[in-house]
Amino acid sequence: MSNCNLDNFSKAAQSGSQYILAPLPYANTALEPVITANTLSFHYGKHHKTYVDNLNNLLANSDLAGQSLEHIIKATAGQADKAAIFNNAAQVWNHMFYWHSLKPNGGGEPSGALKQKIDAAFGSLDACKKEFAQAALTQFGSGWAWLVADGDKVAVVKTGNAETPLTKNVRPLLTIDVWEHAYYLDYQNRRADYVNTILDKLINWDFAAANLG
Ligand code: FE2
Repeated sequence: MSNCNLDNFSKAAQSGSQYILAPLPYANTALEPVITANTLSFHYGKHHKTYVDNLNNLLANSDLAGQSLEHIIKATAGQADKAAIFNNAAQVWNHMFYWHSLKPNGGGEPSGALKQKIDAAFGSLDACKKEFAQAALTQFGSGWAWLVADGDKVAVVKTGNAETPLTKNVRPLLTIDVWEHAYYLDYQNRRADYVNTILDKLINWDFAAANLG
């Protein structure tokens, strides 16, 4: 699913009425040394997979079974009695989005319309990366930092736990997972090192440009 993007994630996560662990877009050694195969084996193979398994269990006998991930996320957001379904569906989607937000030999600079929008919103790519990193560092506890398109403008937002900008009226472009499980094996408590190294070496500007639409 190397051509997977915002518009077909839901399809890639389903097989009939079951939700599946969509393949990683690279080998589990491909992000080393920034993110080790050890981290990926737990993060993708255990954490992400558990969200998929939980979702299948929660949706058995539910009228939401077989609906797209995006539909489930939007239909259950903010409903206390559907929180478990929301949390697991959103975490499946958020993780797929995160895997694609990274790539081997990423980093560098965006081009074209994305570069123009970043310059317009932040003044420079460096300023954008600083704000993105700041959101990732100041997300208290578990959550996500995002680059999003809000109408014509790009912006940085952060969300707690499983929350996702999909439920707001914005278009996610990139994300960084700042749950401790994303970095603790490689960086222990040094979230800043994890975030800044990702932004310099792995972030996938091509994916962001594709999501801009
Ligand atoms: Fe995660």
